[in-house]
Amino acid sequence: MRHFDAEYLRETRRGMWADSREALADLALGECDRALDVGCGEGALTRVLREESAGTVVGCDRDARLLDGLDGPTVRGDAYRLPFVDGGVDLVACQALLINLSDPGRAVREFARVAADRVACVEPDNGAVGVESTVEAEPDLARRARERYLAGVGTDVALGSDAADVFREAGLSNVRTRRYEQTLVVEPPYSESEIEAIGRKASGAGLRERRGTMAGTEEALDSLRAEWREMGRDAADQLARGAYRREETVPFYVVVGEP
Ligand SMILES: C[S@@+](CC[C@H](N)C(=O)[O-])C[C@H]1O[C@@H](n2cnc3c(N)ncnc32)[C@H](O)[C@@H]1O
Repeated sequence: MRHFDAEYLRETRRGMWADSREALADLALGECDRALDVGCGEGALTRVLREESAGTVVGCDRDARLLDGLDGPTVRGDAYRLPFVDGGVDLVACQALLINLSDPGRAVREFARVAADRVACVEPDNGAVGVESTVEAEPDLARRARERYLAGVGTDVALGSDAADVFREAGLSNVRTRRYEQTLVVEPPYSESEIEAIGRKASGAGLRERRGTMAGTEEALDSLRAEWREMGRDAADQLARGAYRREETVPFYVVVGEP
């Protein structure tokens, strides 16, 4: 069971929903009196739902430490057994939760039990992430590391593009999908966390920590890590000269259905 810390979540959701919220239109947030954000983490989606809805938005997570840092109504709970009565809220939503669950269909069925009007998810397709970088080797290495991660992680982290099928199989009707692209740019002036992330690339620490979720022999992963460290050193050199730029695009799928 993977644990997330608030800083990591803030960094990976940086800029998300800041540019356009059109992809959330089918959630009909203006008509929502009571909504639930399951697997809310440090509240990246909860805050957006609260800004777009005049009603109450409750953040729900199984991790009490993440809920402690979140203002407004929260409840500790498990996506498979939500502490709500049938039809207890208008909308049940989640963001980047289903990709972390071993049985996403079971969670969606539970959402449909609790939602009176709509169920929604915002899930990435981590198999289709795009990387551009001023370090020539980085896009290909990022792709190879991602492929090993997709094969080794144990849950479907590319589920976003298939989330509509999961909704239909769970018995939801009128299922609609919209796409949203989150773009994460690293460029001067670099933030503290960006400088730290490049340092971790150069030392290979990031890949080492993800060893347990990456497929491949020890030898293959050692060789990938060696190439990765070299790429990280080039990135650190460019960073010192203010010449490093990296752009990552993550496709998210917003799926809405009716119970
Ligand atoms: C990748 S984070 C996403 C957090 C947030 N929704 C966001 O977009 O930043 C996944 C979250 O789901 C929570 N989570 C994982 N399994 C859960 C479960 N079975 N029930 C409730 N929350 C769960 C984790 O604690 C974590 O906060």
